[in-house]
Amino acid sequence: MPSAEALLEAARAARERAYAPYSGFSVGAAVETQDGSIVTGCNVENASFGLSICAERTALVRAVAEGHKAIRAIAIAGPDGVDTAPCGTCRQFIAEFDPEMPVTFTARDGVVQTVLSTLLPYAFTADALRS
Ligand code: THU
Repeated sequence: MPSAEALLEAARAARERAYAPYSGFSVGAAVETQDGSIVTGCNVENASFGLSICAERTALVRAVAEGHKAIRAIAIAGPDGVDTAPCGTCRQFIAEFDPEMPVTFTARDGVVQTVLSTLLPYAFTADALRS
């Protein structure tokens, strides 16, 4: 299984493929799937700004489209020296796969390793729909 460090390295490589002509804020993400493979994504912006898609959701959507529904961890790499925690929308999107997912992201002072429930406590999940 890839380490959190290897996952972050894959996110850094994916960041190079970002399409961020409007914000100039390039982000890469990498998810580790159940079978140990790594699937990456980057942010993809649009002239209609609100349509822009974050790196995290690109990676997760790509993983599912490639046949991986079980996601074990995610790493996010933003520009150096900046806190790049996942946005609120991406936190909810990650929660769909595991409310306790390990999350690694680049930050001003280095790297933060946490779990999604710390970033998004009391996440709304499918459990609520079943009750
Ligand atoms: N962005 C991400 O891709 N992931 C994050 O965690 C934070 C923000 C993108 C969205 C937009 O393209 C740019 O960064 C600036 O907000």
